[in-house]
Amino acid sequence: MPGLEQDTLHASLQDPLLDSIGFLNEVMSRFPQAISFAPGAPHLAHLLDDDLTRYVELYVDHLRRTRGLDLHGARRLLYEYGPARGLINDLVAAALQDDLQCAVAAESLVITVGAQEAMLLTLRALCRDRTDVLAVAEPCFVGITGAARLLDVDVVAVPEDGRGPDLAALEKECAVLRAAGRRVRAMYVAPDYANPSGTVMDLDTRRRLLEVAARQDFLLVEDNAYGFTAPEKHQLPSLKAMPGGDRVVLLGTFAKLCLPGARVGYAVADQPVHTPDGRGRLLADELAALKSMVTVNTAPLCQAVIGGMLLEQGGSFTKLARERSALYRRNLGMLLDSLDRHLSPGGQTLPGISWNRPEGGFFVRMRVPVRVDAALLELAASRYGVLWTPMSQFYLSTAGDDELRLSCSYLDAERIEEGVLRLAAFLRDPVFRQ
Ligand SMILES: Cc1ncc(COP(=O)(O)O)c(C=O)c1O
Repeated sequence: MPGLEQDTLHASLQDPLLDSIGFLNEVMSRFPQAISFAPGAPHLAHLLDDDLTRYVELYVDHLRRTRGLDLHGARRLLYEYGPARGLINDLVAAALQDDLQCAVAAESLVITVGAQEAMLLTLRALCRDRTDVLAVAEPCFVGITGAARLLDVDVVAVPEDGRGPDLAALEKECAVLRAAGRRVRAMYVAPDYANPSGTVMDLDTRRRLLEVAARQDFLLVEDNAYGFTAPEKHQLPSLKAMPGGDRVVLLGTFAKLCLPGARVGYAVADQPVHTPDGRGRLLADELAALKSMVTVNTAPLCQAVIGGMLLEQGGSFTKLARERSALYRRNLGMLLDSLDRHLSPGGQTLPGISWNRPEGGFFVRMRVPVRVDAALLELAASRYGVLWTPMSQFYLSTAGDDELRLSCSYLDAERIEEGVLRLAAFLRDPVFRQ
């Protein structure tokens, strides 16, 4: 068998970023007894009783009613290859109107294989060549920086405070790039309970970010993965639904609210694209063209499951989001309460340790007084039976080298309490006193 030198393969394969998820899975598989605060996965209580066949049947009935098809005609749409842009676009467009107050035409939607594919397609379409750079707020979800790495798209990071990205730093980056003959083509943001920071961008920052995007002439790529976890009265408008939202490509996923195994997400890309023949297209048409060479189409059966869930919910996910997010907020409350009791006994927090207090999302971010690396994770897993995610993978800089991320979405109450007890023992290990 001829061997291949890794440095003859795409350069991204040598980037530790691409190994970050595999590395965590590998550690979890070696320490099956450990309590893991690592996966940002939905709770199984929301998944295992779902009857997927019923959802598919609901969707088949919907196709028959709305498209005048007989049973075989409706089934064919699910059993055969489908259109690259998707099948359930009309249902998702109506739900976005209801759930996010986003007026979206079905034609401007592409149904993708998770939000991850939507990120890849959006970056591929928007970044013409090496001139175009993606801006992100740091820390940032690895899915987008990883996709950029695969596509050889350069990324600049601006820091974020508790209210969103540092807009002065962003404008400075734009100017620096312009002076070098390059430009920020798009900025990725997750305004609602970002992964991993838990940050909610406040309303003023949302407005000002849209103004900066207009002034500097770049697009915003808005990821709404955790918006559904917001406490009811704290919901802020999606960037896409705000004045200036025509600069926003909205990406979403049904993985966290509905079913990760279905791998269904979407992109709303209603920006007009001017073509030489003068006929014009939408950015969504371009994404669909790219998709036809990536995954061809999102599995129609998987779309039918999500479509059926939407139909069962009366065409909107607002009620389901309220029900399911209650568990996540309860878990978050328990995690924060346990951290207070075990890491701040009598109000005296362990030296050098601090954490944030998000009101939604799946994650808590913790700062510790040592470098957080693979060796520290190994120690936590092997000696204390607890796992978490190193935050360095969410940074381009070294700013996150002393941080870890705790996720509580997947765990039950007793596991959270026991996990924090283990974490508290770990954080008292001599390595933290060197
Ligand atoms: C912020 C964010 N966006 C997108 C995704 C991925 O979505 P999908 O599973 O639909 O690809 C995740 C998953 O962890 C996420 O945290």
